Amino acid sequence: MALVSIMVAGVSCGQKKEAAKPKTLVIYYSQTSNTKTVAQEISNRLGADLKEILAAKPYDGDFQATISRCMQERQEGVKPEIKPLDVDFAQYDVIFIGYPIWFGTYAPPVEAFLNQVDLSGKKIVPFCTFGSGGLDSSVKDLTAKQPKAEILPGYGVRAARMKAVPQEVDQFLKAGGFIEGEYTKPAPFPAQHAVNAEESAIFDKAVDGYPMIHAKADSVAQRTIPGGTEYLFVAKDLPRDGAQQMPPAGSMKVYVTVLDGQTPEFTQVIR
Ligand SMILES: Cc1cc2nc3c(=O)[nH]c(=O)nc-3n(C[C@H](O)[C@H](O)[C@H](O)COP(=O)(O)O)c2cc1C
Repeated sequence: MALVSIMVAGVSCGQKKEAAKPKTLVIYYSQTSNTKTVAQEISNRLGADLKEILAAKPYDGDFQATISRCMQERQEGVKPEIKPLDVDFAQYDVIFIGYPIWFGTYAPPVEAFLNQVDLSGKKIVPFCTFGSGGLDSSVKDLTAKQPKAEILPGYGVRAARMKAVPQEVDQFLKAGGFIEGEYTKPAPFPAQHAVNAEESAIFDKAVDGYPMIHAKADSVAQRTIPGGTEYLFVAKDLPRDGAQQMPPAGSMKVYVTVLDGQTPEFTQVIR
């Protein structure tokens, strides 16, 4: 009401009508553009401001070089710095924070960002891209880092499934009430049951060729989703050849979608 009165007063005085200040910010770090793509999709859909977090010393090496640098920084206790951010966070109510998953959580430049801002009272919407998973674990870390922020449900997508981003972001934004439109909420998964041969084959097909998963499905539950079926498998790591086993053996939840007429794809792994 107050905002309307001010704007009416402004117009009646012959001043230019100013655009309402955006209340939503999308801020992200991205090394190889996957997270950037999601960030752009979200900001375009919302008409929200977009800001990139940049490492003071860029991580511009290839995958192996970045892994090595991160491991060295961890060993030496080095905390990477980020370039100064010219953002007035006070003007935003909702902040989408995007990052790639590195070593199971948000990449170090995002940790640096979270260390230097106070997001108390803000609604935070995390989103991330990953090889196999990390939304849950990173959200736990984010919650511990910013305990007075309200962390809303997040979105995560595998780097290998970037083609799904426009449709999934659309549904995600509708589910969160950020945009209007039709959203079909999937029914909860029923109880797990032991896998049969057909379900076991779906699991094997979905993880085929992904080196970080060498596992056997034990049990599964399934539900209908628009255009197909979603499976939630519980699987156990199988022994690997050689001394090094990465990640360590254990059990995991693996989400798999089978859209009509398409091959099974895993969408995320939670260890
Ligand atoms: C140093 C490093 C560590 C990574 N660690 C993980 C990981 O623990 N789990 C995972 O699923 N993916 C991991 N990835 C894969 C990235 O999360 C994935 O490629 C992501 O989409 C990259 O996002 P970007 O293109 O925005 O930089 C890692 C990648 C790098 C470079």
